[in-house]
Amino acid sequence: MSYKITVIPGDGIGKEITDAAVEVLKTVDGKFGLGLAYEYHDAGGTAYDKFGTPLPQSTIDACKASDAVLFGAVGGDKWDDVDPALRPEKAILGLRKNLDLYANLRPVKVADALVDYSPLKPELVRGVDLVIVRELVGGIYFGEKCESEQHDGTERAWDLENYSVPEVERIAKLAFATAKLRRGKVTSVDKANVLATSRLWRRTVAKVAEEHQEVELNNLYVDNCAMQLAIRPTQFDVIVTGNLFGDILSDEAAVVGGSIGMMPSASIGTCTSLYEPIHGSAPDIAGKGIANPMGTILSAAMLLRYSLHEEEAAKAIEKAVDKTLADGYRTPDLWKEGFSKANTEEITRLICQRI
Ligand code: NAD
Ligand code: IPM
Ligand code: MN
Repeated sequence: MSYKITVIPGDGIGKEITDAAVEVLKTVDGKFGLGLAYEYHDAGGTAYDKFGTPLPQSTIDACKASDAVLFGAVGGDKWDDVDPALRPEKAILGLRKNLDLYANLRPVKVADALVDYSPLKPELVRGVDLVIVRELVGGIYFGEKCESEQHDGTERAWDLENYSVPEVERIAKLAFATAKLRRGKVTSVDKANVLATSRLWRRTVAKVAEEHQEVELNNLYVDNCAMQLAIRPTQFDVIVTGNLFGDILSDEAAVVGGSIGMMPSASIGTCTSLYEPIHGSAPDIAGKGIANPMGTILSAAMLLRYSLHEEEAAKAIEKAVDKTLADGYRTPDLWKEGFSKANTEEITRLICQRI
């Protein structure tokens, strides 16, 4: 048996963190005999510089032909002024669309060793175990847009938000199925007091809920949800929400885990799935070798679990990450007095030693 994994490092810290995750995958492969093979492809600003496009067709084709995709991050100031249609971020958006990755699962858990690293009080974050199920190929991200037009003598721009019933249905179904395997609670987040798309969202989620009576459904407005995440994050099990709200709420929820560098994600759809940390290319620390690779390494664990059904190998990675933290090793984003500082390569080696 052998599995083909397409690796897309991307820009900024992307190479450092995907190198780390591949080293960890090679270590579990050595232990469990998984037969993993890697193929590297370009995307983002790096691809734009080489080929004049952030997402070459060859990268899309390779993803479709593989068992899973491991993605680093894209973007950076260097490409801020390129044609908006060719921005590095178009690479990840294009991959999501081309692979129809409609569901982005962003689990938020706090490692025991990091309970007092969050800016929130330890008693608030201890025991947090939630997952944000973010709709990933619709909403305002993919609606019609206008970069610039003249209107009544002034310049304006616009982005249209739209959602269809089938788009909401499929993400809602996945959220309820996820909740059934967890604590049986779905919180649907919208802005139904203002937005028509949110009213359609809420109606559709309620219909899907009728087929899942054993799951409890609550609705929250997004502004309240943002506050509730800071006040009492333990109240959440599964949060299901649209593309833009899910993007914002997941960065907010990441503070529970102590650093955005810890947070993994799985993007799942009807074709090959893609795994990436929720953070970006971190241009401020790129090239310094100090990025926290744990979010990407934990994304690799999700890849083993969901795409390759290698649960034991996935657990081995998660345990090794926990043990490394429990043994007191920290990348600079998490370091404080009394702990051992490790750079990206060192922490990766420490994790591999614990597998
Ligand atoms: P960012 O997530 O890259 O960085 C925000 C802050 O978190 C920075 O201070 C950064 O140093 C820190 N950080 C992020 N990841 C870290 C890690 N692994 N270890 C330690 N610290 C880490 O967000 P940003 O600065 O708003 O965006 C930078 C670029 O990344 C932009 O071009 C943006 O569009 C892009 N971006 C890409 C993705 C993606 O590829 N999926 C996701 C988010 C942002
Ligand atoms: C994320 C990022 C992306 C998003 C950007 C880079 C397009 O912020 O994956 O969270 O907004 O989805
Ligand atoms: Mn984001």
